[in-house]
Amino acid sequence: MTIRATPGDPTVWRRHPHAPPPGSALGRADAIPDGQGREFRFGPDHDPFRMFVVRRGADCFGYLNVCPHFSLPLNYRPDQFTTRDGEILCSMHFAVFRFDDGVCIDGACPGRALDPVPVDVTPDGTLRIAEIPAPPLPAR
Ligand code: FES
Repeated sequence: MTIRATPGDPTVWRRHPHAPPPGSALGRADAIPDGQGREFRFGPDHDPFRMFVVRRGADCFGYLNVCPHFSLPLNYRPDQFTTRDGEILCSMHFAVFRFDDGVCIDGACPGRALDPVPVDVTPDGTLRIAEIPAPPLPAR
C-alpha cells in the first residue's frame, strides 16, 4: 500500500500561548530511554503546551502531543509513546507514526502526520528546543 504523506506543520507549535522559547532546556537526552519517549508540559495545568520527544540512539525527535486523528493526546499512561517495534503509537485508537517524521503509517489516519517541535542536543548532552534560524533579510 502506498501512503500519501501530508507532513506535519513545523510552525503550529509556536502559535500555542505557552510554547517554550527556542533554547529551552528539556533535561538530559539520555534520560529518555532508547526507543522510548517522554512528555514535556509548559504553562498552566488547565491549558498546558504538551509535547513529547522520542529518542533512538543519538537522534531525538519532538512532536506536539496532539494526534492528527481526533486532536487528543497520544498517551494514556505517562510517557507511553512507542510500540515494541520502535514506532510512535497513539493509545487512543492505535494509529502508528514513524519515529523520524511523524507520518501515520498504520491505523486511523494514514498519511497524516504529527506536528513537529524542533529539538536538538547540545555537545554536553542537554536536550533543548532548537534555535530557529532567523528568516533571511528581504532583498533590496
Ligand atoms: S486520537 Fe489518535 S488514533 Fe485516534
